[in-house]
Amino acid sequence: MIDQAPGDAAEQPTGELPPAMQMIQFVGGFQLSQALYVIAKLDIATQLDEGPKTVADLAEACWAQPEPLGRLIRTLAPMGVFRSLPDGTVETTPLGATLSAHRADSVRAATLYWMETHYLPFSELLHNVRTGETAATHYFGEPFFDWVVKDSELVEVQSGAMASVMGGLGAGMFEGYRLPAGEVVADIGGASGSVLVQLLENEPDRRGIVFDVPEVVPDARRHLEMKGFTDRVEVVAGDFFESVPRADVYVLSYILHDWDDDKCRRILGSIEAAAMPGARLVVVEGIVPGGDEPHFTKAIDLVMLAMLGGKERSVDEFAQLLSSAGFTLDRIVATPSPFSFIEATLRP
Ligand SMILES: C[S@@+](CC[C@H](N)C(=O)[O-])C[C@H]1O[C@@H](n2cnc3c(N)ncnc32)[C@H](O)[C@@H]1O
Repeated sequence: MIDQAPGDAAEQPTGELPPAMQMIQFVGGFQLSQALYVIAKLDIATQLDEGPKTVADLAEACWAQPEPLGRLIRTLAPMGVFRSLPDGTVETTPLGATLSAHRADSVRAATLYWMETHYLPFSELLHNVRTGETAATHYFGEPFFDWVVKDSELVEVQSGAMASVMGGLGAGMFEGYRLPAGEVVADIGGASGSVLVQLLENEPDRRGIVFDVPEVVPDARRHLEMKGFTDRVEVVAGDFFESVPRADVYVLSYILHDWDDDKCRRILGSIEAAAMPGARLVVVEGIVPGGDEPHFTKAIDLVMLAMLGGKERSVDEFAQLLSSAGFTLDRIVATPSPFSFIEATLRP
């Protein structure tokens, strides 16, 4: 029998797991990540788009073994990913369906990206915290982006993941948002151009530029062609630490959080060098709230720490960073998603 200290019961709200069980579930998160990765990689949720199937049929369609696959599904069902039906078939819940490839809120591409590029370097988090060296740099022997661009398939996975993050988690964020005035809009580090396409969709009089490293631009060209934007969006290859094209409005979507303050000032310095005074800047990022309030940015912050040496920022940190680089923060537009539009102007 285990003795219970006075007051223990009062600290454990009814319905919550005992602390030790809760902690073991947290620490066992690696099992859940890997199980969800297998479901995403085998494309099980996509198979269930048309309706329920037996595990045997799923296994056959996905070139998997029915016994272990059934055990994965049995583990994930009580977590709300699958539902077992009385006739012996299984179906996805709305949560599980986000791993299907064909949904607007799909996070399948982000799941593949994280698990194929982030999972192993995260094993160096202890090294990161002890030494200050970024875990992924230590793991790969070079900065993460330098490693990714060597493999064109991973580049595609990365761009697909970014589109899925903004599409899946950013649902509704572009509705009702209008960019500041300016004819030419440059999306710096724009990947496949998925954010720029959303921003320019209802703006036929504006032209756009997607700017990214040379290894990423073929994917951007393919994506813009597919979306029918090649007539008014140009794709430019380069390094934002060196220079960027001239534009009236600059978009930095999910870029600044990748870098520490000094590197961010170099990117903003490239914009300052290319732009006319009065040029507008739109930073798309999550904003870290104060206190212990849960927020998406607090989990993503560890990804930035371990993979890139960047960080998520609070309003004050954004204001200070932008001001130190010659920009005045104008306004922050919150959206129904975890992301906000942070608008600033280049000071004369
Ligand atoms: C986190 S992704 C953001 C993609 C996109 N802006 C979005 O919100 O979906 C970071 C992007 O920055 C690009 N990038 C990294 N280093 C760069 C550099 N030195 N110059 C230009 N682009 C760079 C990467 O190739 C990648 O497409």
